[in-house]
Amino acid sequence: MKRIKATYPGSFDPPTNGHLDLIERGSRIFDELVVAILRNPEKDPLFSVADRRKMLEAMTADFDNVSVDTFDGLTVDYALRVEARVILRGIRALSDYEYELQMALMNRKLQPGLETVFMMPAEKYSYLSSRLVREVAQLGGSIDCLVPELVAQKVREKMDVAHKFENGEPPAGKTPSESKSKPRKRKFEHS
Ligand code: PNS
Repeated sequence: MKRIKATYPGSFDPPTNGHLDLIERGSRIFDELVVAILRNPEKDPLFSVADRRKMLEAMTADFDNVSVDTFDGLTVDYALRVEARVILRGIRALSDYEYELQMALMNRKLQPGLETVFMMPAEKYSYLSSRLVREVAQLGGSIDCLVPELVAQKVREKMDVAHKFENGEPPAGKTPSESKSKPRKRKFEHS
């Protein structure tokens, strides 16, 4: 029987319970699943790629057939490189559909041999996105039920540092004049 390897690409900034739910579902369907974090130099991420990788590795440690990797360039090129035949993506609500369809069709145009498979996370995660997690955390709300505890801890640490930074307390090793605090402003984005 042919073994099916899939890749689940995304930004994962930060990884959420919704991502974990999808990884779990994917790991049951595919023989191998590679969670692939996009290294996107144009974005202004909350977490470095290395941090996101560590969080995802810890979150997926119990899944024997799941690994975590990073990539840049086209997802289809990455998928071919790691010999994945499937790109796994999650669809939470109708609002995701247009963007995901566009991406899936473009990926098919670029690489007709690759299939995109959509899976739906549990309904309880249908409102959940990394962007909202960042926003809720930045505005002081609790993210405890939205992300695994290890991620919540990391987000809290980030927010503490940002808060001190904005109040004129420089991060360790920097003087106030070296630390020019800029509040993070992000335009709407999917992730
Ligand atoms: O978690 P996200 O931000 O929704 O993930 C989007 C991602 C990383 C899957 C998408 O931006 C992507 O595939 N980027 C890699 C570049 C690429 O292949 N672009 C063409 C897609 S049609």
